[in-house]
Amino acid sequence: MIFHGKRVLITGGLGFIGSSLARRLVQERASVTLVDSLIPTYGGNLHNIADIRDQVTINISDVRDPHSIAYLVKDKDFLFNLAGQTSHLDSMQDPHADLEINAAAQLSILEACRRANPGIKLVFASTRQLYGRPDYLPVDEKHPIRPVDVNGINKLAGEWYHLLYNNVHGIRSCALRLTNTYGPGMRVKDARQTFLGIWIRLVLEGKPLRIFGDGKQLRDFNYVDDCVDALLLAATNEAANGKVYNLGSREVINLHDLAALVVKLAGAGSFELVPFPPERKAIDIGDYYSDSTLIERELGWVPRRSLEQGLATTLEYYRIHRDHYWSPGE
Ligand SMILES: NC(=O)c1ccc[n+]([C@@H]2O[C@H](COP(=O)([O-])OP(=O)(O)OC[C@H]3O[C@@H](n4cnc5c(N)ncnc54)[C@H](O)[C@@H]3O)[C@@H](O)[C@H]2O)c1
Repeated sequence: MIFHGKRVLITGGLGFIGSSLARRLVQERASVTLVDSLIPTYGGNLHNIADIRDQVTINISDVRDPHSIAYLVKDKDFLFNLAGQTSHLDSMQDPHADLEINAAAQLSILEACRRANPGIKLVFASTRQLYGRPDYLPVDEKHPIRPVDVNGINKLAGEWYHLLYNNVHGIRSCALRLTNTYGPGMRVKDARQTFLGIWIRLVLEGKPLRIFGDGKQLRDFNYVDDCVDALLLAATNEAANGKVYNLGSREVINLHDLAALVVKLAGAGSFELVPFPPERKAIDIGDYYSDSTLIERELGWVPRRSLEQGLATTLEYYRIHRDHYWSPGE
């Protein structure tokens, strides 16, 4: 019960992963504060925490506001830094918003910690996107960094600010490079968070899923509970300080087979192959899957949930809660 009685701040706490993390920390009897801006095009949704609403403190503010952040970090033991602009396409269309949230605000958060609470421990949610098109598979942490979009560059800066503040200022921080994460609470209204989100919506509406390209692209996926396990391990393990770890799965699947699995589990819908829209092709990374043996070895992380099991749970969640995640025709 490491988190029992601990004061924990989660930025992006009303989002997909942040809300699952909050639920787990409430179970562990931590005192949990969630900060989220609820910008409608991002993944925040109050329904994500409907079942724990009375057990958490919610602060609707923007991590770009240094005054809010200075106040919020002051008395906390842990900070899970998950607030982010997650859409790769949006980062190309509005690069400055991505820069302000994924890079500049991260620096403000760390500065606030340095000034007001240098004893805090931070875990930053980074992304596999910063590797770009892989030279080899599976991609380990030694793979060259070659972001293919503005989001990848800004997330890299956000990640490295955390490592720098660990190394230079002694503010204990680490980063996890997440691969595609899915589960209850993900944004399914559109493809802003992940294509799998919109697939789930479409299949539940009985509409065809569209796969861009030939369907042979490889991907790995983590169920959200496995991602939460990794965040908690990174927070509580001093060996993680100053480190970057990949998350990933040994269960690698191509997009054609993934679409077939979603359709099979939903018992409805169909899928079709369509040519890549040019703006997506320009930032596509081809095949990707992670080597996550470093975190397995050093922190003892094991992704436990199978893709089939995780997708079935996710589909069931949206069958029941769909009205809170999208309106027909929206
Ligand atoms: N889901 C994935 O597959 C995945 C993969 C790689 C990295 N990540 C990273 O994990 C983190 C969490 O992602 P998620 O999937 O839960 O996405 P999400 O969009 O559901 O969560 C992010 C949350 O941050 C909030 N937010 C955004 N800008 C903010 C701001 N300026 N101030 C305050 N709150 C703000 C959003 O409202 C949202 O609730 C992100 O940093 C993302 O880059 C996620």
